[in-house]
Amino acid sequence: MADAKGLGASAYFGVGAPGYPTFPGLAPLLPLPAAAGAVGTDGCDDPDVSPLDRHFMGFAISLAAAVEGQTAPNPNVGCVLVRDGRIVGIGAHLRTGEPHAEVHALRMAGEAARGATCYVTLEPCSHWGRTPPCAVALRDAGVRRVVVALRDPNPLVAGEGLRILREAGVEVQEGVCAQAARRVHAAYLTRVERGRPWVTVKVAMTLDGKIATRTGESRTITGGEALRAVHYLRLRHDAVLVGANTVRRDNPRLTVRLGGEGQEIGKLRVVLSRSLDLPADADLFRDGLAPALVATGTEGDREAERRLGDLRVEVVRLPAEDAEGEVDIPALLALLAERGVNALLVEGGGETIARFVSRRLVDRFVVFVAPRLLGGREAPGWLAGEGVAALAEGLPLEWEGTARFGADFVFVGRPTSQDG
Ligand SMILES: NC(=O)c1ccc[n+]([C@@H]2O[C@H](COP(=O)([O-])OP(=O)(O)OC[C@H]3O[C@@H](n4cnc5c(N)ncnc54)[C@H](OP(=O)(O)O)[C@@H]3O)[C@@H](O)[C@H]2O)c1
Repeated sequence: MADAKGLGASAYFGVGAPGYPTFPGLAPLLPLPAAAGAVGTDGCDDPDVSPLDRHFMGFAISLAAAVEGQTAPNPNVGCVLVRDGRIVGIGAHLRTGEPHAEVHALRMAGEAARGATCYVTLEPCSHWGRTPPCAVALRDAGVRRVVVALRDPNPLVAGEGLRILREAGVEVQEGVCAQAARRVHAAYLTRVERGRPWVTVKVAMTLDGKIATRTGESRTITGGEALRAVHYLRLRHDAVLVGANTVRRDNPRLTVRLGGEGQEIGKLRVVLSRSLDLPADADLFRDGLAPALVATGTEGDREAERRLGDLRVEVVRLPAEDAEGEVDIPALLALLAERGVNALLVEGGGETIARFVSRRLVDRFVVFVAPRLLGGREAPGWLAGEGVAALAEGLPLEWEGTARFGADFVFVGRPTSQDG
């Protein structure tokens, strides 16, 4: 049973969340206190917000959650239009370059938008592109009231959308279910506010903390249900990153495999390698399902770079962090943010994860624990690197939640403080 309390970890993965039985695919997307009878509103307990506003904003947040991982670099916005207590239009932004959530909802509502209330997870945009900004579209459609969860920190918007609406006499209410919306928009907000993607580290380990045997075998540490949860996680990220040893030893595809035959979904695959000594026949370089990018420092072998180029694998040389030519992780994250990656999933191994942890550049840890012991002083754990000398230097975490997937457990935690 998934834990329904707090931020049930199932919220992140797509399985077993309570309170949403009719949409097993959506359920998981948010932690839903079933008893509340509302969708997507965990963290929305402001007494000044009416239950009805909470209910409809919760639905908008659920729509936003449903499109997590497919709108980058844009935000995954959800929108609900309500007239006389009935939903008359719904929408989500589906992909960069396509209509915004409000436009989908307005098109569905048609004339019914006049006098309606619009619930939207992020401030309507205010900049003119090929189409008028959403704030103008809502105003021109005669929407009477706009309820917004969060202001858009994008400098192109940043309060301007709300100003356009208020000046037109539209009633605007901000900050409704802001905490829940901040969670669903965490990746976009992190990229815009910090100039780097939201970083999740995912690990599958045995109860004795091992991610592989002493001979390097690691592929099926956890069972099928946990594995499925990992694929949901990938689905909800824009890029997946591993270290070179993981490519050499495991030949991972790093794709989303939740559908049937031929329905594999590719996300940008990123490999970190100082040497560029990588197997040219690795699946992720050859399957053509999504681009692969290899990030190297100053020491990467030029000949190997050419060979990878022949496979249409992009090799990016980034500033080196040290004399060894290791990639500076903040520089890599800045590059990924520039390329529009909102959410990055780091899947190991231990040396790679250590680089992110030591720079305090992880937003969330998702650690699956299998009921198995491997032992062995040579068998790797999930966090390598130098480690710290004193307990006080360790990275303090707080729990977000826990859940069970078949025989395995997952623990989700986040750093209590961040300087990244
Ligand atoms: N159970 C799990 O969840 C899980 C997940 C992933 C991996 N694994 C296991 O973990 C083991 C591999 O872990 P590992 O710690 O040995 O290796 P790893 O983290 O996969 O790869 C380490 C390598 O990545 C490159 N690298 C890392 N940080 C870099 C940086 N900042 N700049 C440039 N290159 C960088 C270097 O490549 P070069 O050597 O090319 O310079 C380094 O040697 C394997 O046995 C694998 O099966 C388990």
